[in-house]
Amino acid sequence: MNDKLNITICLGSSCFSRKNRDVVTALQDYIAQNKLENDIYLKGGHCFGKCSLGPIMIVEEDFYHEISPLKAIAIVESYLNRK
Ligand code: FES
Repeated sequence: MNDKLNITICLGSSCFSRKNRDVVTALQDYIAQNKLENDIYLKGGHCFGKCSLGPIMIVEEDFYHEISPLKAIAIVESYLNRK
């Protein structure tokens, strides 16, 4: 464990076809532009069994579905604002 905000993006094939790559790119850009490398740990995960609801993002223990780049950033900002 670490004290960073843990974000996992599903990298399974169904989420891939639902453009999870756009979400990953948006989050990587957001982290770099805001110099959040020490605050956020972004990683990929395997299929979470919720393929029809993808792309899937998990923040800490919370599960989010049908994620778009803008939605992902808004969710991440809400966690950062709670810290
Ligand atoms: S491929 Fe993402 S939940 Fe199955």
